[in-house]
Parts: sequence; structure tokens; C-alpha cells
Amino acid sequence: MEKYLINPNQKIGKINKDIYGHFSEHLGRCIYEGIYVGDNSKIPNVNGMRCDVVNALKDMGLPVLRWPGGCFADEYHWKDGIGPKESRKKMINTHWGGVVEDNSFGTHEYFELCRQLGCDTYINGNVGSGTVQEMSEWVEYMTSDGISPMAQLRKENGQEKPWKIKYFGVGNESWGCGGNMDPEYYGCLYKRYNTYCRDYSGNEHINRIACGPNVDDYHWTKEVMDKVKHHAQGISLHYYTIPGDTWEHKGSATDFDTREYYKTISKAYRMEELINNHLAVMNSINPQKWVNLVVDEWGTWYDVEPGTNPGFLYQQNTMRDAIVAALTLNIFNKHSDRVIMANIAQTVNVLQSVILTDGEKMVLTPTYHVFKMFKDHQENTLLGSYITTDTINNAHSAFPQLIESASVDENGVIYSTVANTSATKSSKIKCQIADTKVSTVKAQIITGDIHDMNDFNSPDVVKIVDFTDFRQLKDGFTANIPPCSVVKFVIE
Ligand code: AHR
Repeated sequence: MEKYLINPNQKIGKINKDIYGHFSEHLGRCIYEGIYVGDNSKIPNVNGMRCDVVNALKDMGLPVLRWPGGCFADEYHWKDGIGPKESRKKMINTHWGGVVEDNSFGTHEYFELCRQLGCDTYINGNVGSGTVQEMSEWVEYMTSDGISPMAQLRKENGQEKPWKIKYFGVGNESWGCGGNMDPEYYGCLYKRYNTYCRDYSGNEHINRIACGPNVDDYHWTKEVMDKVKHHAQGISLHYYTIPGDTWEHKGSATDFDTREYYKTISKAYRMEELINNHLAVMNSINPQKWVNLVVDEWGTWYDVEPGTNPGFLYQQNTMRDAIVAALTLNIFNKHSDRVIMANIAQTVNVLQSVILTDGEKMVLTPTYHVFKMFKDHQENTLLGSYITTDTINNAHSAFPQLIESASVDENGVIYSTVANTSATKSSKIKCQIADTKVSTVKAQIITGDIHDMNDFNSPDVVKIVDFTDFRQLKDGFTANIPPCSVVKFVIE
């Protein structure tokens, strides 16, 4: 029997809801078809946004949405996406699939989407192929409430009041698709571009995000931190879980064996090491901890579904992805003192999506159900917690069988989420909640075979159901956590 201790006396800090954030790029069928169908579509929509998708995302509790990219951000010229739709410039989306981008979804449409979702905004600016003036004017266009050329243009385009930007990214992957720069050079550029992204009185302070490292590039973190530490609120980390060993063979989203399952989980668990190591580098340069970590691209990345455009990055989603999501969100919760935002890639129809669409059909993936299950943690207080667990060893690394986190809401209700990463073994746990008399315990579960998934013909194979294999105790509970499962306990 594993011992699980939750300590309500150890209140660690607030879990920023933004670590449950999402990312949607002009890539494949994410924005177009997946979210935006235009107001002439037969698919029910409000101002062009699909009602089914918007409602599902609201229900899941999407707190913040990153847009317009990704690699697309450094090719995006925002003025192409404003004004009358019929006169907006058409271009080829050279990075993603070579398809025509008609710019019908632009700045106004993004803010309309966020209004419908009731979420905060995270815009990524163009450093790679854009100018300082272009970025400066975009921020002015969106947030200035004074007398200014860009505020005037916004009003002419139908938006009287400025919008609010919570986060603004100055470049994306500037070490790669965003310009192939060296960290010293990017750090200097960041300061220059950022200087002219003003905080206008119509907006609260913009949290500025500098382009951080790819995976374990600690040199990038060190050099960029050195330059931006007085000028940024966050630095980003991009880390994708790719089971295969090369870009050409990333592995199938659905056709994998147990060995590949464990390889995927061990690679996903690497997030813990990466956060710890990058924070250590950041703290050595900025011991005051002004700059926080933002994991603004994460998730699984497999080979595209057979027969689909390789540039669209469309992949299915199984219980394996649910376990990746649950273990990663538990890791983010535990680091919520310094990880202030994270954005899974990408919301609809791209990589580890929470929603897949096909014409007017929509399906919620196993990953969706994990986000929905975990939404209770948002803005709660993280509690000290510890669980004993077996370690799963594979050829790549070792990782815990059980990965958990616990939080408390303002009414004193405790939420604990536990992922069992084993494909075959259940685990008995005894949970004790320090200095607490427990009156009720309720639980829910997402579980199945590692290959289980939802598709358009069978949309409810994986879903959240009540979990009853537990026994309440005076100060906690015992439970038998099934293999390949995610369980949430709600303790009052
Ligand atoms: O999410 C897909 C791509 O992955 C993004 O555009 C880019 O930033 C990253 O390389």
C-alpha cells in the first residue's frame, strides 16, 4: 500500500489558472475549420466562431489563448488581417502546408474569440520578419485609448474601445523558425523591440514574454536571461514529447506498443527536469526571481495521420495522451510558484488537441477530459503533498508510477489529482490528510487501455466517470488506482 500525505497546513502558493492555457496557430485546421468557419457557414456559429467548439472550450475552462503562432507569428503582418475582409491580402502559409491564408481571421476576430471564451489574451509578435515599428503599432492599435493614428484606425475598423493584452511574446523560437539567431543577438533585439511596446493607459501592464530555450538549451536561457532580466516578466520554454528518435519517424499517434508507450511517458516526465534546470539557471542570473517561466508550447508530437497534409500536423489522441497531459499538469501545479503560464499545442486539430473536427462533427479527445477534470485546481492554493510510489524503469529513464498534486479552494475543499502511468498495474494508496477530519470524499476517473481513443464514430470511449473503488477514513481514504488512469478526489 502506497502512502499519500496531503498537508493542508503547508500552503505553498496560488496555482495560476494560466498554466491550463492553450495555443492556437494559423496552422492546418486549427483556426480555420476548427475554430473559425466564417459567419456564412452552415455550421452554427456566432460571428464566425463555431458554437460547438466555443461551448466545449468554455466548459473545459480555457483561461488564456496564445495566438497567432508559433512559427506563423514571425511571418505574420498584422495589418493584413484588419479592415474589410474582401480587401484583406491573401498569402501562402509557407510554413504550414503551403495553403492560402486569406487573413479572414485577424486581430478583431481573435479578440472576439477570447470574448466568447471569456479568456485572457496572449499575442505573439513578429521579430523574425517584422519591424520594430510594426510591432509597436500593433500594440498601439490594440491597446491605445488616447489620440493616436493606430487607435483611430482601430475605431475606423469598428472597435471603439481598446482591448486588453495580458501577455505579449516578443518573437517565437528565435533560435529556429523565428530567425535562426544567437541568444546574445536575440537578447539585444528583444530589448529594442520591447522598448516600443508601450503600456497604454487603456490596458493594464502587459506581461512581456521573451523567447526562451528549446528543450535543454541552457546556454540560450543564460544568455537571454542576462539581457532581458530587467525587461521581461517571463521567458518561454518549448518542449514537445516525441516518442521516435528522428523527425522523420516520430511514431504513430495510435499504433504503438507498450515499449513505445513507456518511452513516451518517460520523455513527457522530462518536463520536471527541464523546469528545475532552467529555473536554476534563471535564478542564478536573477535571484530576485522577477522573471518567471512560461511553457508556451508543450504536448505530444507524432507522425501525422496517414493521408493528411504533412504540413497540417493532424494527429489522433489516446489514453497515452491523457496520461501525458495529467502528469504534465501535476508537474506544472507543483511548480506554480515560478511557472506562471503554459499553453498546450494546439487547441483544435493540431498536435495534442483537446478537440478534433470533421466538417460539422466534433469530438472531445482524452486530453480534453483531463483538462476538464483538472480545472478545479485553477486559482486554488497548492498544498504540500507527497506520495510513495514504485518507479517504472525503461531503456530511456526512470519515472514514478504515481504522479500527483493537491490544492485547496477558498471554501476549504481539497482536490487531489493522481495519474497512474503504469499500462498494466493498479496501485493501492492510503491517503492521510494532516490535521483534518474528513466528512465526504467523492472521486472521478478517466481510464482505459493505453490505446483507447474517441473518434467521430465512437466519441465517448474515453470520458470522465464516477470512481467508487475507494473507502473513506476519518482522516483520508484508501483507494485502488487502476492502471493507465487519472483520478480526481474531492475531499471535504
Ligand atoms: O506547434 C507547432 C510548431 O512547433 C510551432 O509553430 C513552433 O513554434 C514549434 O516549432
